[in-house]
Amino acid sequence: MDFALTDDQREIQTLARDLARDEIEPHVADWDREHTFPRELYGKLAELGLMGVCVPEEYGGAGADFLSYVLVLEELSRADAGVGVTVAVHTSAATLPILMFGTDEQRSRFVPPLARGEAIGAFALTEPDSGSDAGSLRTKAEPDGDGWAISGRKQWITNGSLGGTIVLFARTDPDTPGSGGVSAFLVDSDQVETVSSGEKLGLHSSSTVDLVLDGVRVGADRLLHEERKGFSVAMATLDGGRIGIAAQALGIAQAAYELARSYALERRQFGQRIAEFQAIQWKLADMSTQIDAARLLVYRAAWLKQQGLPHTEEGAKAKLFASEVARRQTGEAIQVLGGYGYTREFPAERYYRDAKITEIYEGTSEIQRLVIARSVLGLGQRAMALK
Ligand code: CAA
Repeated sequence: MDFALTDDQREIQTLARDLARDEIEPHVADWDREHTFPRELYGKLAELGLMGVCVPEEYGGAGADFLSYVLVLEELSRADAGVGVTVAVHTSAATLPILMFGTDEQRSRFVPPLARGEAIGAFALTEPDSGSDAGSLRTKAEPDGDGWAISGRKQWITNGSLGGTIVLFARTDPDTPGSGGVSAFLVDSDQVETVSSGEKLGLHSSSTVDLVLDGVRVGADRLLHEERKGFSVAMATLDGGRIGIAAQALGIAQAAYELARSYALERRQFGQRIAEFQAIQWKLADMSTQIDAARLLVYRAAWLKQQGLPHTEEGAKAKLFASEVARRQTGEAIQVLGGYGYTREFPAERYYRDAKITEIYEGTSEIQRLVIARSVLGLGQRAMALK
């Protein structure tokens, strides 16, 4: 067992850290306050190969491994979780499923523009009445000539309006209820009408929209994987995507910890630095320990995925643990900063708002526990489903 990063992994980690320091950190407070999506930033990320870190070079990517990609997400999210989720959804939830399930033609047509950052990827599964119970989705794709006509509404779609490729799930078999009647499609985002998803608590620098599809026509060549096998595409995609969200949570927790630590070493009360009080020392000790534990879970899951080994359970554990650590630690960071932590003078309150979503999207903590429980108990997929 080797816990050290390789030279290549350290190099890409440093690249992302430097980019975040120079291009994200100086602007992040403004983006958050003004709800700015920093489009030009993604051109800079693309120039450095960070829009396709773990995509093979033959498809326009940087050809690095999955752990390198996770390191990039962690660094970006440490500076701005909104940037982290934009890159995570673009890569894990849109580019990688096309690589994994696409035909040769689909891979060579759709992946290079995504990996080069010329197109931004999105993943459209959730609907107003279908969240945790993803298999109950109602958007339908009906045969139309040699292709399909898709109608329905998708909700809270990260990157849904940015001009790119959407991996979109629709029911192609109306007679099969649940997940069995679902297929996956590749839809151009400029074909789809978008409407506001409303205002979010955090992640103000990421773009989230609802998609309204009214007979959107796609050719037969836009079916991803086999008809009625779309749910497995969604689940396998989320297996990897959850590792990315765990890395995002880890980055947020790390940022909150670093802020609390440096504040505690400077702030003086009762004639000494507050870091000299055991109450604060124990908080920082717990934060540091929990971040280390989360990081080990996240890196292990990434390693398993890179090896092509099963990672459903390990990815769910990484996301469950890292997201709960992020939510707790961002609250603790505010506590260490006291009244200052509750103001916009410091980023602690932004970390706190951004952390919460990591316990919700790409499967709530309750769904992660369901996935883990099924795995550790060796129960059939549906035996413990929420019916
Ligand atoms: N890999 C491949 N296939 C899988 C799988 C996996 N990990 N897990 C399940 N499947 C397959 C099963 O084998 C089964 O296939 P067959 O019918 O052919 O046998 C099929 O999928 C149905 O599986 P289940 O019986 O387990 O399905 P279920 O209805 O019980 O649901 C669930 C399972 C885990 C609850 C699932 O609905 C789920 O993950 N819900 C959460 C949805 C979610 O994470 N949404 C995130 C939205 S995206 C997002 O958030 C992006 C963003 O903005 C950041």
